[in-house]
Amino acid sequence: MAGLDELVVVLKAAGEDTRLRLLALLADGDHSVKDLTAILDQSQPRVSRHLKLLADAGLVQRHAEGAWAYYRLAPDGQGADLGRWITARLDAETPERQRDRARQAEMRAEQQSLAADYFAKVAESWDLLKTLHVPEAAVEAAVLAELGGRKVDLLVDLGTGTGRMLEVLAPAYERAVGVDSSREMLAVARARLAASGISHAQVRLGDIGGLDPSIGPADVIVIHQVLHYFDDPGRMLAQARRLLKRGGEILIVDFAPHDLEFLRTDHAHRRLGLSRQQMSDWASLAGLDVLGMREFPSDTKDRGLTVCLWHLGDRTRTE
Ligand SMILES: C[S@@+](CC[C@H](N)C(=O)[O-])C[C@H]1O[C@@H](n2cnc3c(N)ncnc32)[C@H](O)[C@@H]1O
Repeated sequence: MAGLDELVVVLKAAGEDTRLRLLALLADGDHSVKDLTAILDQSQPRVSRHLKLLADAGLVQRHAEGAWAYYRLAPDGQGADLGRWITARLDAETPERQRDRARQAEMRAEQQSLAADYFAKVAESWDLLKTLHVPEAAVEAAVLAELGGRKVDLLVDLGTGTGRMLEVLAPAYERAVGVDSSREMLAVARARLAASGISHAQVRLGDIGGLDPSIGPADVIVIHQVLHYFDDPGRMLAQARRLLKRGGEILIVDFAPHDLEFLRTDHAHRRLGLSRQQMSDWASLAGLDVLGMREFPSDTKDRGLTVCLWHLGDRTRTE
C-alpha cells in the first residue's frame, strides 16, 4: 500500500510522453544512457533528467558501471508493479513506438557488428588472448566438475568461439552444438574439434539474440565469457532459457564487476563484469534459480580479473 503523496509522485513521473517511451524501451531490456539518448534522438542532459525522475519514483533502477550508467525497469516494489502494468498496456504499433523499436534494433545490430569485427580480427589469437590474467585452467576444471561426472544427452554452447568448451566438456555429453555469430571463430572451432577427434559436437553460425529453437531442447547450456559483450545480459539469458529442457541447467562463466574501462574501448566489452545481484535478478526473470556460484580470483597480481561460475537451474525442476 502507498500513501497519496507517494502515488502522486510515481504517477507524475510516469505520466509524460518521453518517460513512457523510456519505460517501454527498458521493458525490452537494460540500456545505457548513451543508447537511450541515440534511440530517442534527444539531448543527453534531457534524457538523463527524465531517467532521474523515473528512478526517484522507483520506476527504474540505475546501475553505474565505469564511465557508463545502465538503466532497467525496477525489479521489485511498487514502482516495478506500476512499470510492468503500464508497459504491458502501451500499444507497440503506434508510429512513435515503431520508430523507437526500429532504432533500438538498429542500435543492437550496430553493437553486434562492432563485436563481430573484433572477433573476426582476434579469432586466430583468441585462445592465447583469453588466458591472459584469468585462472583459465581452474575455471575449465570447475565447469566440468559442475556436471558431476554425468553424461547429458544434449549440451549447447552459446558463443562457442573457438570451441574450447566443447572440447573440455566432450566427456560429459552424448552430443553438443556450439553456436556463434562469427564465421572466423567457427572456422577455428571446426579445426579444433577435428584435431581433437571430437565428432559428437558440431558448430553452427547463429545469433544468441534470435536462436533457432530446433537447436534444443538442451539438458545443459554453457555461456562462457559471452554475456559481457551484451548491453543486456538478462535478455540473452531469457533467450537461452527457451532452448532449455524442463529441469535443464545453465552454466555461465563471466567476470566479476571490475573497472577496466579499456576492455570496452579495446576489446568490445559492453558490461564491466556481472554482479551476484544482477545475475540473480536476471535468472529470476528468466524462470531460473541460482543453484550455485563460485569465484576464481586472478592468478596474476597485475590487473587480474576475478572470474565467476554460476550454475542455474530451470525453476520447473523443483515444481
Ligand atoms: C569472448 S568469446 C568466448 C568464446 C568461448 N565461449 C570461450 O570462452 O572461449 C565470445 C564469443 O561470443 C560470440 N558472440 C558475440 N555475440 C554473439 C551473438 N549475438 N550470437 C552468437 N555469438 C556471439 C563471439 O563471436 C565470440 O566468439
